[in-house]
Formats: sequence, C-alpha cells, structure tokens
Amino acid sequence: MDRIYLDHTATTPLAPSVLEAMQPYLTGEFGNASSAHWFGRKAKDALEGARNRIARAIGAKPSELFFTSGGTEANNLAIQGALRAARKRGKTHLISEAAEHHAVLDTCEYMRDEGFSVTVLEVDAEGRLSPESVERALQPGTALVSVMHANNEVGTIQPVKEISRITVGRGVPVHTDAVQSVGKIPVDVEDLGVQLLTLSAHKIYGPKGIGALYVRQGTAWEPVFHGGGQERGKRPGTENVASAVGFAAAVELVLEEREREMQRLQLLRDALQRELRAAFPRILVNGHPDFRLPHLLSVSFDAGAMPMEGEMLVTNMDLEGVAVSSGSACTSGSVQPSHVLLAMGRDPGTAKATLRFSFGRGNSQEELPIVAGIVRQVVERMTKVTRK
Ligand SMILES: Cc1ncc(COP(=O)(O)O)c(C=O)c1O
Repeated sequence: MDRIYLDHTATTPLAPSVLEAMQPYLTGEFGNASSAHWFGRKAKDALEGARNRIARAIGAKPSELFFTSGGTEANNLAIQGALRAARKRGKTHLISEAAEHHAVLDTCEYMRDEGFSVTVLEVDAEGRLSPESVERALQPGTALVSVMHANNEVGTIQPVKEISRITVGRGVPVHTDAVQSVGKIPVDVEDLGVQLLTLSAHKIYGPKGIGALYVRQGTAWEPVFHGGGQERGKRPGTENVASAVGFAAAVELVLEEREREMQRLQLLRDALQRELRAAFPRILVNGHPDFRLPHLLSVSFDAGAMPMEGEMLVTNMDLEGVAVSSGSACTSGSVQPSHVLLAMGRDPGTAKATLRFSFGRGNSQEELPIVAGIVRQVVERMTKVTRK
C-alpha cells in the first residue's frame, strides 16, 4: 500500500542531508565534547558550530542557546527556571493561556502545586489570545508570561510580539514555545522581543530527542538539573553532539526553503480545505483564518449530523493508508476531547469529530484527490455505522 503521511505537526522524517551531516559524529568523531583530547575537541567544535548556526538562525547569541532533549524539556526549564529565580525576588505569579501544549500547561499546574499562583487566560473562538487580556492579568508579582508562538493543533499564531511589548516594559519576561513555528513563519528573538524561546528539531526534519532553550542574556533564570558543568552549568549532561549537528542542519534547511515551501504547502492545504468543504458543506475549519500556520488544516465535522470519535476517524484513515491526527499527537490515545478545541468553545462532540492534516516536504498535489476521496469514504462509512 502506498501510504500518505499528513502528520508533519506530530513529527517529520529525517532529511537525507541532515542524516549525512550527523553521521561522522555517530561513528569516527564520536568523542565526548568535554574531553581534552583530539576526539573531544572535534566533538566540542562540532557542538559549538551547531550552536552558532542555530543561534544565528533565530537572531540570538550562541551563549544564549542551551541544548535540551527537546521541546518538552525546554518548556519545563523555561518555566521552572524563570519562576524559581523570580521567587527569590518575591515574584510568584505566572500567566499562560488555555490552548498551550501540555508541556506548558502541565508545567504550570506543577508550579501551582509548588506554591506559585497561575492565571490561565482564555482564547477566542479562533484560538487567539488578546494582548489586552495579558495586560489585564499582569500583577506586581507576575514573574513570567508563557504564550506559544503557533498552536500545534489548529495552527493559530499568537500575537507574541504585541504581548512582549506590553509586558517587557513592565519588567515581566516572556517565554514562547516556537516548536511549531520555526521553519514555517519568521522566528527572530529580537523581533518577537521574548526572553525565553523553545525549539525542537524533530518537527523540522531533524532528529528526535534534541531541542534548545534560548535564554536572553541578563534574564533571571536558574538551572533545573544539576551535575557536570556542560552547557555552562545550566543544563548538565553529556552533550548529544550528532543530534546538535543534525538540528543545525535541519534549521538551515527549513529556513533556506521556508518561503517557497510554505507557499507550496499552503496551496495544497487550501485545495484540500476546498475539497472537504465541497464534500461536507457544514464542516468547520479550526484556527484563525489569517493568523494560521500555512501547512496545517484542522477540520471538525458537524457532530450533530454525524457524531464521530476522532480516534476512530484516524484509525479508519490509517486503514486506507493516510496518516493524520485527531488533535495533538501527544494526547492521541486518550478519549478526551482536545483541550485546545474546548478552549476555543467547540462542544465536546464537535471537538472529538476533528481531523488535523499537516503537510510537509514529501507531499504533492497528486495526493489531494486521493486523500479527499478517502476522507469522504471514511466519514460516510462511519456515519452509517453511528446511525445504525
Ligand atoms: C507546540 C509544542 N510544544 C512542545 C512540543 C514538545 O516537543 P518535543 O516533542 O520535542 O518534546 C510539541 C510536540 O508536539 C509541540 O507541538
């Protein structure tokens, strides 16, 4: 069976050029970057080269970038590290928003258990947070605002720049999770005005298990892990040199292609949206019509007319050879409706009857009629079954 992969928001395949860049550091030049000998120096040079290239890509200084095991860890380090440092100055209030990834929301809950006060702001029906609501939520004790750059389930892009303009003037740092935005829309720490920013390699054709946290120079932030002195003592642990090199190669690859590739994927995305709309006139497109990632389409079927479980939709699509998601991959397997769609005001039935298509480098125009035909077939079959 020829399979079609439309789940690039969950993860992406390693690009051949990325694998090629990594290979030497998995075999011949395998040294520990902390060792003083030739092998160690080779590894250290590669690691620092990777740091330089990634930092340059987001407008940061190399000394402001710390490698992590991925986006989840970087989000944890950003929030926990900033709050622990702020507590020493008597600041214990955190602001975030309801459509964040669980790596942020669950960390917020953890910090609440640790004695911090947390405000989780509502988003509108298109998944957007208003900068004014952030302004209203600010308190003298606010230590951090954490707002994602682009949402992984519906693609809505948050007004991070506008938010940081308001908060930074009041001495409140902003953290943004840019895991889904880098390589899709411009990501520049100066332009966004943020103090902390999260990246992950596996969403951009890099290896899984590596990411980075940007911490602007001068930002009060404490390490969460303790051990060796790696990453200037801020994130100890033997460095994953091959993956760091792969991460840098992936960042450069997606940035080099970004404008051209995103235009191409947006055309594919919009064409599928039109096809699905023609087949199901009452379909709801989730996310903001303008401020939305160009490669992502999230649609909800009219639950009143045809109640459906997203997981069953995904399974049936998979049986026909099309890989999609019903929401966030991280919450797949749970039968709960997506917290993002609920936050946007969808009712639980509609939230469950949702499919997310996310396009990537391997997708082409020829796949569109196949995918649209399979969606039609699967939905019709499932509607018949649920009506029986
Ligand atoms: C917005 C967002 N943040 C964080 C993460 C977690 O990143 P990682 O898989 O690298 O831990 C994801 C992954 O799905 C994501 O979409």
